Amino acid sequence: MAHSARILVASNRGPVSYSVSPDGTLTSRRGGGGLVSGLSAIGPDAGALWVCAALSDADREAVAQGVTEPGSRMIAVPPEVFHAAYNDIANSVLWFVHHMLYQTPLEPVFDEEFRGQWAGYETYNAAFADAIAEEAAEGAAVLVQDYHLALVPALLRERRPDLRIGHFSHTPWAPPDYFRLLPDDVAARLLTGILGADRAGFLTRRWADAFAACCVSVLGATVSDDGSEVTYQGRTTRLGVHGLGADGDFLRERAHREDVDERIGLLRSEAGPGRRLIVRVDRAELSKNIVRGLLAYRQLLQDHPGWRERVVHVAFAYPSRQDLALYRAYTEEVTRVAGEINEEFGTRDWQPVMLKVDDDFARSLAAYRLADVALVNPIRDGMNLVAKEVPVASDGGVALVLSREAGAYEELAEDAITVNPYDIRQTAAALNTALTMPEAERADRTKRLADAATALPPSRWFLDQLTALGG
Ligand code: G6P
Repeated sequence: MAHSARILVASNRGPVSYSVSPDGTLTSRRGGGGLVSGLSAIGPDAGALWVCAALSDADREAVAQGVTEPGSRMIAVPPEVFHAAYNDIANSVLWFVHHMLYQTPLEPVFDEEFRGQWAGYETYNAAFADAIAEEAAEGAAVLVQDYHLALVPALLRERRPDLRIGHFSHTPWAPPDYFRLLPDDVAARLLTGILGADRAGFLTRRWADAFAACCVSVLGATVSDDGSEVTYQGRTTRLGVHGLGADGDFLRERAHREDVDERIGLLRSEAGPGRRLIVRVDRAELSKNIVRGLLAYRQLLQDHPGWRERVVHVAFAYPSRQDLALYRAYTEEVTRVAGEINEEFGTRDWQPVMLKVDDDFARSLAAYRLADVALVNPIRDGMNLVAKEVPVASDGGVALVLSREAGAYEELAEDAITVNPYDIRQTAAALNTALTMPEAERADRTKRLADAATALPPSRWFLDQLTALGG
């Protein structure tokens, strides 16, 4: 029914994905994640609708056949438009600009090809604005997520000025000196797109301040003294900081199911009894800094030979954005460096690095429970939920080595061992400090980390934004 949804969430990746079974029928699979649990917190009767993109041929087929999941609407743009918006602009340009990694290893080139891709991004954002405009009830609240949909708030306001619109960035935001490497019109369009919202949300104060500074520098907008409002061309957008936390109840329950217990046994026997475990769990993603993490571990084994045979680095690097050569190459590099360390230090019954690249959520939880040390060393990260999840799921206490460039640093720094993610020697020293932390101290810190990590669970994070929009 058109114009009936009172609360709408819009994101590129939605709550369901489809696949085609061998007999040709479509089957749907519900995904997990913070947004899914956030949305479930408002209950099934709230008139909520999740608008998302068809990501695959099977998703597009579902849209073509009119297959729908209650509570969600999938938008199918032509595959080449989706590719331009998602792979070329969102994942190859915006992701790296926001993480301040665009010049390494990518070379920014703003040629005709880029302009064609940008046109795809505009079309994809307009398709979202059209669909939301069609579905939203008078005065509905719309929560638009992330860099894929930066233009939607302004496009939607043109179509439906009655709506209350929020935008939330799950990534970092780069300060103007960096952000301005984008072509001026593109930089301005991204900012005015988000300023179309009544409220723009960020995971930390640092990213919100950087956004405000970009609005001043690129657009000549004005920012209130306390940094909480940006005014541009007579309209004011409020800025909010909501540090999304871990879902403690879900994690504790999920981490004690049978499939996780089974994997605990497997990990233990693969690592070797009694060995200390340094755990990391990430998407194989350049911003996660997995290679430098491995090099820091190698440095640890060099500097402190006493740890040889007594520790294992359990590194899970799950496939991500595999359409992009850059990501495929990164997984290869991670695999190569892990292999080199195993070659250099491994013995007959000790493999120093246990690298897994096949996605297995239950095994991740098993590793969380067993970790003596968690290594979270991103070059830059909007928040990093692994840093928050490990202390919550830990069985016996965990020492957290945490990059100061992760958003989670703002909340967890006091009880973590913090590092500059580029500094391999410092990270190696931090790993040694973590491994030698007295047990009582580790337990105390883990408790405080878990409390801080669950301060704003996804359901409250979601409701806070709705409330702030006045809905
Ligand atoms: C990470 C980021 C999110 C982003 C998501 C997209 O989780 O923190 O900001 O929306 O990746 O990943 P995808 O696999 O959909 O490209």
